[in-house]
Amino acid sequence: MAANLKCAPVLAALLLVAAMVGTTNAGNIAVYWGQNGNEGTLADTCNSGLYAYVILAFLTTFGNGQTPVLNLAGHCDPGSGSCTGLSSDIQTCQSQGIRVLLSIGGATGSYGLSSTDDANSVADYLWNSYLGGSDGSTRPLGAAVLDGVDFDIENGQSAHYDDLANALKGKGSVLLSAAPQCPYPDASLAPALQTGQFDNVWIQFYNNPGCAYANGDDTNLVNAWSTWTSSVTAGSFYLGVPASTQAAGSGYIDPGTLTGTVIPAIQGVGKYGGIMVWNRFYDVQNNYSGQVKGSV
Ligand SMILES: *[C@@H]1O[C@H](CO)[C@@H](O)[C@H](O)[C@H]1NC(C)=O
Repeated sequence: MAANLKCAPVLAALLLVAAMVGTTNAGNIAVYWGQNGNEGTLADTCNSGLYAYVILAFLTTFGNGQTPVLNLAGHCDPGSGSCTGLSSDIQTCQSQGIRVLLSIGGATGSYGLSSTDDANSVADYLWNSYLGGSDGSTRPLGAAVLDGVDFDIENGQSAHYDDLANALKGKGSVLLSAAPQCPYPDASLAPALQTGQFDNVWIQFYNNPGCAYANGDDTNLVNAWSTWTSSVTAGSFYLGVPASTQAAGSGYIDPGTLTGTVIPAIQGVGKYGGIMVWNRFYDVQNNYSGQVKGSV
C-alpha cells in the first residue's frame, strides 16, 4: 500500500515527461479571420481548438494622415460601432491562451507611412484604440486588449515600417508579426524585418511559384525557407499556406504532402514555429487545419 502510494507521483511525473517529449516537435497554427462573413464567428474559430494565433484582417486604411478604417467584411460594421461586440469573443479566445492580433494592410487598401512622425502617430493610434493604451480614443473592437499587431504590407511601399515596429515595441507588451511573401527580401517588409523586433514571421508560400510549392516539387520552398530563416532575426517562422485550392492562385499543398514531406523538410531548419493558414473561411470548407493539426 505504502509503496504504491509512493509510486503514484513518480508514475505521474514519467507520464508528464512522456507527454512533453511527444509534443516537442508540434508546431502551432495561426489563421487569418475577418475577410469573409460566412466563416463563422471569432468565438467559434477559437473554440475549434485548432489555433494558437488568430489574426484579425484587416485595418485597410492608415497612415499619411488618413482616418484609419477597419474592414471585417460581413462580420460587423465598424462605422456604426457594431464591431465592439467582438470584445467578448476576443476575451473568449484569450481565455484559452490564444493570441489575437490585428493585421494592418492586406492586398487591397489605402495605406502607407510618410515619415517617422507619421509612423509614431499610427503607433499611438494602434496602442490607444486596440492595445493597452487608454487615452479616451474610440475603440473599434471595444474594451478587449489585443495581443499585438501583424504587418501584412503588400503594396510595395516599405518606408517607415521599421519606425512603426520600433514605436510599437517601445509601448510595452505588444506582440509583433509580419506576413512577407516568400521571395527574399520582401518588397514591402524588408526594412521593418531588419529591426529584429518581430516575434513571429509567417511567410506567404503561395501566389509565388518561384519560391512556393509547385508541380509536386518543394525544392524552391525548402530553399526559400532556408534563406528566410538564416537571413532574418525573429522569434519564430511559420510556413504560410492556402487552406484550399480556392484560397490562393497557386501554392496549395495537400494535407498529406504537407505533413509527410514538406514539414519534415523544414522543421529542423531555422526557428520553425508552425504553419499559418489563409484563411478561416477556406479552412472551414476544407478542414485543412483539422487534418494537419498534431503533425505540423
Ligand atoms: C477534420 O479532420 C479531422 C482529421 O481527419 C477529423 O478528426 C475531424 O472530424 C474533421 N472535422 C470536420 C469538421 O470534418
